[in-house]
Amino acid sequence: MKTLIICASYHHQNTLKVARAMNEVLGGTIVAPADVDLSTLAGYDLIGFGSGAYNQFFHPSMLKLAAKLPELKGKKAFIFSTNTFGLRLFNDKFKPLLEQKGFSVVADFSCRGFIDFSFTRFFFGGISKGHPSEKELQAAREFARQLTLAAGG
Ligand SMILES: Cc1cc2nc3c(=O)[nH]c(=O)nc-3n(C[C@H](O)[C@H](O)[C@H](O)COP(=O)(O)O)c2cc1C
Repeated sequence: MKTLIICASYHHQNTLKVARAMNEVLGGTIVAPADVDLSTLAGYDLIGFGSGAYNQFFHPSMLKLAAKLPELKGKKAFIFSTNTFGLRLFNDKFKPLLEQKGFSVVADFSCRGFIDFSFTRFFFGGISKGHPSEKELQAAREFARQLTLAAGG
């Protein structure tokens, strides 16, 4: 299964850690949104979209990419994110942007990610220290394994 993981990860590379854990299983390519070659997307069997949450949304570079995506009817995709409390809400907000382009979102994953931006630094030096944890990275690997099983190995 030829897989591309598009990952926007800038604060502490929390989301990139998750992307790398998934990619240990999927054996694909990880690329930043700005570096995606749109003309190659049709050649992938599965495309992952991952981002940290920034001011209630996926990173602006990911939103910009989503707006530029070609129409790819039925293209299998998955969504993942890291954010302060590990909510899936940000995945839910991003999903319609892919569906508008015809993507079929088959699964999503979320976990906590360390933040020490701005005022959060004054809460014992940041919130969600140590996240994503090894347990969460293991869950990300398992998530990827389920994706490969669903695709028939
Ligand atoms: C500027 C900024 C804004 C953020 N806004 C949110 C937010 O709205 N909701 C949330 O849950 N986390 C928010 N966070 C926390 C990040 O989503 C979290 O630290 C994430 O793991 C960062 O991923 P990254 O290290 O891959 O960039 C914000 C972090 C930064 C730096």
